[in-house]
Formats: sequence, C-alpha cells, structure tokens
Amino acid sequence: MSQRRVAADDARKSEGADFSVRAEVAISPQVWFFFEDTQLAAARKINRKVSSGSLKDELQGKLVGRKASVGVIGLGYVGLPLAMEFCSAGYSVTGFDIDPEKPKALIAGRSYIEHIPSERIRKALETKRFGATSDFTQLTGMDAIVICVPTPLTRHREPDMTYIEQTTATVAKYLRAGQIIVLESTTYPGTTEEVMRPMLEARGLKVGKDFFLAFSPEREDPANKDFGTGNIPKVVGGTTKNCLALARLLYDGVVKATVPVSSTQTAEAVKLTENIFRCVNIALVNELKVVFDRMGIDVWEVIEAAKTKPFGYMPFYPGPGLGGHCIPIDPFYLTWKAREYDSSTKFIELAGEVNTAMPEYVITRMTEALNLAGKSLKGAKVLVLGLAYKKNVDDTRESPSLKLMELIEKKHARADYCDPHVRVIPPTREHPDLAGRKSVTLTPASLKRYDVVLVATDHSCFDYDFICRHARMVLDTRNATAGVKQNRKKIVKA
Ligand SMILES: NC(=O)c1ccc[n+]([C@@H]2O[C@H](COP(=O)([O-])OP(=O)(O)OC[C@H]3O[C@@H](n4cnc5c(N)ncnc54)[C@H](O)[C@@H]3O)[C@@H](O)[C@H]2O)c1
Repeated sequence: MSQRRVAADDARKSEGADFSVRAEVAISPQVWFFFEDTQLAAARKINRKVSSGSLKDELQGKLVGRKASVGVIGLGYVGLPLAMEFCSAGYSVTGFDIDPEKPKALIAGRSYIEHIPSERIRKALETKRFGATSDFTQLTGMDAIVICVPTPLTRHREPDMTYIEQTTATVAKYLRAGQIIVLESTTYPGTTEEVMRPMLEARGLKVGKDFFLAFSPEREDPANKDFGTGNIPKVVGGTTKNCLALARLLYDGVVKATVPVSSTQTAEAVKLTENIFRCVNIALVNELKVVFDRMGIDVWEVIEAAKTKPFGYMPFYPGPGLGGHCIPIDPFYLTWKAREYDSSTKFIELAGEVNTAMPEYVITRMTEALNLAGKSLKGAKVLVLGLAYKKNVDDTRESPSLKLMELIEKKHARADYCDPHVRVIPPTREHPDLAGRKSVTLTPASLKRYDVVLVATDHSCFDYDFICRHARMVLDTRNATAGVKQNRKKIVKA
C-alpha cells in the first residue's frame, strides 16, 4: 500500500469518516491519489455537514445555489443533451461513459450526435464547468448522479437490465453520504425500488437519510425543434419525501416545470404509459391504412380531415414499421412485469404484432406495384430512401429500413439505400450482413438505375420533386410526396 494511501486511511479514521465504500479495483497510482483525495475531501465536508446540519439541508443548499456538481452517466442521445442543459443552468457537470471514445471526443470539443452541434460542446467546455471521463472513481466527487444508460430487450424480447444493474453497482461502489441518484432510463415500474435501492443500500447507507434516490423519465424527442430538454415538463418520483424534494430542486433550474408524483413506481409507469400510448395509436392507424387502402381510401387524407376536429382526436401517422430506442421496445418492459402480477396485456401485444407486420405489408405492396408494371420483385433493384428510424435524425436503432432491406434481399432483389444522415450502415445485432454498406448519392442517373425508390424515412433534405422526376417508380410509406405536383402516376402509397 502506498504511503499516501496509508496516510489517507489514517486521516479518514481520525476524522471518523463514514465510508462504507472503498475502491477495490486495480487502478493506477495517479487515479488512486485522485480517488483518495476526492474521498478525503468529501469525507471532511460530510463530517462538517453532519455536525452542522442534515445532509438533506446541505444538498438542498447546493442545489438552490447551483453549487452542486452533477454527474451524468451514459452520454448518448439522452445523456449528452441533458449534461449540456445542467451545464447551461450553472451546475458543474461531469459526463461519464464506459465507451472511452465519447469522453475523448467531448473533451476535444467534438459532438458525435448530429443534432447536437460541436459548437455547443465547445461553449460548455469554455465555461470550465463541463468535463467528461471514463474514470468512474470521480463519481464520489459528485453531489448528484443522473443515470441515462440503455434499456434494450434481450434476444427473447425481455427487459435487458444489465446496463442499469452494472451502472448501479458502479454507483454503489463510489456512493458517499449526501448524494442524490436519479435514474432517467425508461424501465418497468419497480426498477428503482426493487433493483437499485437494495444495491445502493447494501453497504450500509440508508436512502432518504444518508443518500437520496429518485426516478425521472427522459422525454427527449431528438431533433424536435419546438421541444427539447429545457422546455419539456419533467415528471419526478422519489423514494421518500426528501428524495422527491431534492430531485425537484435538481431539475428546477434546468426544465420549465417539474411534475411530482407519489412514488418512483408511478414515475416509471408514466413514461411507459406515454410510449405505449404512441405504440398503440400508431398500430391503430397502421391497421386503418391497410383497411382503407383496400377500400380505395387514402388514410393520410382521412387523418388530415379528422384532425380538424378540435377535441377528442389526436393525429398519429402510419409508416413502414416502428423504429428507435423507445416505442418498439418500452411497451415490452410492462408486458414482462405484468406477468409477475398474472395480468395480461393483450392490447399492447396486439399493437406490437400490427406494427411488426408493417414491413411485410410494404413488401407486398411493392410486389403488387411491380407486377402491375410487368416486373417481378425477384431480380429487381430497389433504392431505400432514409435509413434512420425517423426523419432528420442519424439514429438507426430498430429502424424498419434495415428490416425492409433484409426482406427485399430475401426475395432475391437488390437493396441499396440513400441517407445523407447515415453515410455508412453501422454494425447491428439483428442485421450484421448490412453493416458497412454505403449511402448512394442521388443523381438523375442513379435514380434511373432502380426499378423502385422506396421512401422509408421522410427526411426534409430529400427533394421529392426531383426524386419523382427521375425515378421509375416511387413507393411512398410516409406520404412524403404529398406536395409533388408532377409525375404523380409514378407514386404508389404503401
Ligand atoms: N433516444 C431517445 O430518444 C430516448 C428518449 C427518451 C428516453 N430514452 C431512454 O433513455 C435511455 C438512454 O437512451 P439513449 O437513446 O440515450 O441511449 P444511447 O445508446 O444513445 O446512450 C447510452 C450511453 O450509455 C453508455 N453506457 C452504456 N452502459 C454504460 C455504463 N455501464 N456506464 C456508463 N455508460 C454506459 C453507452 O456507451 C452510451 O453512450 C434509455 O432507457 C432510453 O429508453 C431515450
């Protein structure tokens, strides 16, 4: 043991520091020194605090004065913009990610998410209140820790809790008295209480007294120009009253309003309700699309007219299938948990079935359209427009375009794609064979090479007049060509 570490231990003993957590990992001496220093500094502060007032009051003071240091774990689509908002609100923010490339990029002033400009990262760095790291020993120095790690499904379509569990284990390892921990990842009701709380309390600190725990779901809608983290009200549920009060204070300067609910379970249920609402309503319009099409009725025209009703109706739009990290996944966190209570969730399962069947429906429509043109899908060349799961983003997670490309190739046709937001197809677990393919450039000549151009994602950067002018046939799953006046005979809705 180094002399410095012995000294640190002695000092801690002499101060009577209540540290149930010790670094047990093999880390470099430099990191040890940093860690020991951080622990010692924190220990001294805590001891002072315990004697001069409650931990809650101390943390409250720091939050009100924006003097708290905030750690955001998971610097992805949710965590990175949130870290920026905390920084803009005046907090000192440290982003943590297990992928060392992310902190490295951020420290160099580079964003890796298209709709978050590098300029924003550089401005945050200039304040000297933003940093990023993969060194989790620094968690001890944080007053608030916000967790934004992925919550996908396993191969058997059950909740994959490994990210939350691993992160909680790490937080538990470096937990010190006086911290607040908030989970933001979407998950089933009971996660904060049943999974996180026992892990965090395992070393002796008590929730609501020594540290504070809350759940506050993220409502981020990437690339939405009207609503971002700052102006979307934030639902907050705490394990205890103090937990709730402190969590609300943490977000008060960051979001327009907080919406308190009675428990972490309720807050978890709120997020699932919002996403299930979308999933079920999208399934409904997808089903209507198929039925109305058989009747010769255009579902998009129906929706445009229906949404003129000023009450009791909200428009949802059909598409080629569900994508993204939320809507195709989150509902199944509830269906899984419901089984523990002998409850069935037929509505949700049915919505999932309808939405999952949409790519197949698109392929059927494509086959029919080619037949009418005297061609077959076998041997055809198809250009899929848009690889991202929704318009104007670069996120391809669960994107139906990938499924469509795979289905097209299963029918012995060739599928290329064009997406200015996604230059190369990233590796995915479900579609490994597509990884590495490159986006085709749209030119009159390239468009003419394909038997069908399939509009899967209605990015604003596509010139639909140009596409319809030069393509031989356009299969439109998004009504993206609604404004095209010429060449309408080439357009088939699907
Ligand atoms: N993307 C959205 O639009 C959106 C919207 C609302 C809610 N959510 C929810 O927010 C959560 C995060 O989603 P996301 O889209 O930001 O995911 P993401 O994949 O973009 O980002 C997650 C980040 O966490 C990191 N990470 C994984 N394990 C880690 C660990 N153990 N420690 C530290 N970092 C770790 C990853 O490297 C990645 O950078 C999910 O629960 C998701 O359902 C997402």
